[in-house]
Amino acid sequence: MKSLEKYIGYEIYPYSFKDGNDDGYGDFKGLLSKIDYLYDLGVNLLWICPFYKSPMDDNGYDVSDYYQINETLGTMDEFKQIIHECHSRGMKVMIDFVLNHLSDEHPWFQEAIKDKNSPYHDFFIFKDPVMKDGKKCLPNNWEGFFSESVWTYVEEIDQYYFHIFSKKMPDLNWDNPKLRQEIYKVARFYLDMGVDGFRLDAIAHLAKDVTFSDSELPVNEKGIVLDTAKFSNREELYGYLKEFKEEVLDHYDCITIGEVGGCASCEEALRYVDREKGYITMAFNFDTCWENGAYGDYNKKDKDIKVNVKNMKSLFKKWYDACHENADMPIYWVNHDHPRVMSQYGNVKYHKQSAKMLITTLLFMYGLPFIYQGEEIGMTNVDYEDLDDFKDVSAQNFIRSHKDFVSEEVMLRFLRRTSRINARTPIAWSNGEYAGFSNVEPYVKVVGNYPTINVEDNLKDEDSIYKYYQKAIALRKEISSTIYHGSFELLDKENPYLFMYEKKDEEHCYWVISSFSTKNHRVQLPKEYDVLLANHKVVTRHGELIVHPYDSYVIEVKEN
Ligand code: GLC
Repeated sequence: MKSLEKYIGYEIYPYSFKDGNDDGYGDFKGLLSKIDYLYDLGVNLLWICPFYKSPMDDNGYDVSDYYQINETLGTMDEFKQIIHECHSRGMKVMIDFVLNHLSDEHPWFQEAIKDKNSPYHDFFIFKDPVMKDGKKCLPNNWEGFFSESVWTYVEEIDQYYFHIFSKKMPDLNWDNPKLRQEIYKVARFYLDMGVDGFRLDAIAHLAKDVTFSDSELPVNEKGIVLDTAKFSNREELYGYLKEFKEEVLDHYDCITIGEVGGCASCEEALRYVDREKGYITMAFNFDTCWENGAYGDYNKKDKDIKVNVKNMKSLFKKWYDACHENADMPIYWVNHDHPRVMSQYGNVKYHKQSAKMLITTLLFMYGLPFIYQGEEIGMTNVDYEDLDDFKDVSAQNFIRSHKDFVSEEVMLRFLRRTSRINARTPIAWSNGEYAGFSNVEPYVKVVGNYPTINVEDNLKDEDSIYKYYQKAIALRKEISSTIYHGSFELLDKENPYLFMYEKKDEEHCYWVISSFSTKNHRVQLPKEYDVLLANHKVVTRHGELIVHPYDSYVIEVKEN
């Protein structure tokens, strides 16, 4: 995959995509039936989230056998068929590779907790209890990402094991060369099968502060604190990645995108992805994903939630400035770990208009765009009324650890805005029962608005969001050279309502004008221009464009 300029990515969360065998879970059969739908949309690089055998504590990110397909999803033959069907349409397939941790039900871990002398014991990170006043205590005060300590005790061997995610997901010990070789074997297995690359899950965390000393940050009521510096972007990690690259990746024509989350600065990210000196192709950071203030304090009221357009565009610019000369980068609104972009940055009251605006804003910036499943029809956050419906380990841990002092109403409001479940509801394929996702009740409840927000209606309506995506994607491919290699400047960068930018090379100059506002605005137009894409009919007055709520335009500037 030498030049990435013509690729448009699309993330598939397979359990929620399409159920093909009526068990309530999405599966390969369902996915196979929708390859043409994806092809017609114009996307040509699929990122398929984990499909390995898994007890499903974290929807497949807890792998219990890398070499087997999870039963609910289908078979290895079906997976090969997906690769084949995609390749025969010129589409690439990138798979999610979970390599920071695996499931506690994986045989390696089962061996490790039986016997301290097992060779598998050193595949994981174990520590003896710290004795305080004759009592066994946690080895340190670190908190993981899912609202609990990173340590869980195993009685049989009288030791704690380390996990930055759920307690059913022990971290692997990358310091152990034998473990690393096992991971490389898995990578070769799938590359030899024909996959085109990996999204490398939680890659920033492979190396930990091996002193395991307490964090100096203030601890919470449980005496623990999330101090990501203790297990993110640490020096040893770059050595591991260098080895992975030299031993495996360099021998294949593949793409690798590491999830570095909100834990890497531009400088750190470049160490991963620099074209000359880096180890992987690109990094997913989440800097632009949180710009509506919904996170942090769960007591926030609806009126406190406001999109910070100014900050958001400056963050896109910051990453562009850092990367464009030295590295490729992905661009995206959100993924399976975030709320829906429609509810986050769009406006459900301007549903069609804001969904179209969002894709226009994204697509013409530098980088490889990723669409998250369901964005192409403007799917929204959940409308759940019951905390039990938030079937996600991180949401349930949050509920468990807050229920004694936070009201149900406040938790519901917070989770409806921020929970990962928002992204994981079944795709609404039609207005039929269970949104046409399945013929039986799905494993996660559908969003109540599927009678109006669904694929079937989108395919029938020439003015639909899906049809607009098709046009926008086709245009992006057509002018990709300027988009990829031209300059990128924010226009009117202090404007808190409009996200406007210019892409320019020696031959072409394009402006993208997008409104994140419910009011009308005016923008001075160039002397001569062509409108290439618009989600509203063009209205001008005295040389100014009238920008209605959530309007978006791509224009080619002929003379300014
Ligand atoms: C990544 C995944 C997330 C998962 C976690 C643990 O952040 O995107 O869904 O829970 O890793 O594997």
